[in-house]
Amino acid sequence: MDLGIAGRKAFVSGASKGLGRACALALASEGVNLTILARDAGRLEKAAAELGAATGVEVTAVAGDISTEEGRAAALAACPDPDIVVNNAGDAPPRGDCLQWGMEDWRAALNDHMLTSLMMIRATVPGMVERGFGRVVNITSGIVKMPIANMALATAPRLGLTGFAAGLARQTVRHNVTINNLLPGAMDTERFKVHREELAKHEGNPDGAKESAQLASGPAGRWGDPAEFGAACAFLSSAQAGYITGQSLSVDGGRFPGTL
Ligand SMILES: NC(=O)c1ccc[n+]([C@@H]2O[C@H](COP(=O)([O-])OP(=O)(O)OC[C@H]3O[C@@H](n4cnc5c(N)ncnc54)[C@H](OP(=O)(O)O)[C@@H]3O)[C@@H](O)[C@H]2O)c1
Repeated sequence: MDLGIAGRKAFVSGASKGLGRACALALASEGVNLTILARDAGRLEKAAAELGAATGVEVTAVAGDISTEEGRAAALAACPDPDIVVNNAGDAPPRGDCLQWGMEDWRAALNDHMLTSLMMIRATVPGMVERGFGRVVNITSGIVKMPIANMALATAPRLGLTGFAAGLARQTVRHNVTINNLLPGAMDTERFKVHREELAKHEGNPDGAKESAQLASGPAGRWGDPAEFGAACAFLSSAQAGYITGQSLSVDGGRFPGTL
């Protein structure tokens, strides 16, 4: 299926590895030119070269921290009028007792997991509306639907972003600008490997297992392939997806147990 976005421009943050990179690759495979951003310049340059070589699209690498004003300014200077924005807010906040966090902890979490994406949307959506095409995909988390008490710093800001996007998405869709969220669950990235090893320690490694038994017990019986996540991102970014907006799509192998 031709997704009808060849020649479009996308900005993808957190794109040197993991889910951001998988989204960048899926878009590039559709002929979308990329601007990608991450903090580690060496790893980012390598990813840019590999993405360009694999797909033949133009790839511009911008080293920076998307959670800072400087990082966002550098991204927007390199790609002032993206047709597609994939907001991937990067590092997960620390875990802990949700009542222990103070104002500074909450401010930092809100900055990284809500306001960063919100500011990118604010900077790019008006131009998309003017041009009559735009796709925003926010990478949030399965915890938006299935909260985990010790991950409140990650859950609450992402729900705030989801609420913001839900309102704006209804204003922009008539201009062919959609805003949706992708909710990863147990996708096999470097970060997730660390997460399941940490959880295994917490579970006490009953049989010496290095990985969490609880996490391994999902309905799909396997971890998600980041390429599967990238494909969902590319579809939500497609010309054909213009009537899908304000939605939160789980890519989690059925881990979210609800019917809706
Ligand atoms: N994998 C899952 O199953 C899963 C589940 C739930 C939620 N998520 C969420 O999905 C997002 C991506 O996860 P992942 O598994 O793909 O992680 P990952 O494999 O660790 O990749 C993270 C990417 O983001 C970049 N990055 C991190 N912080 C950044 C920042 N402040 N500014 C710019 N780039 C930054 C990293 O490069 P640098 O370090 O060089 O900047 C890297 O390219 C995270 O927000 C995570 O919490 C993932």
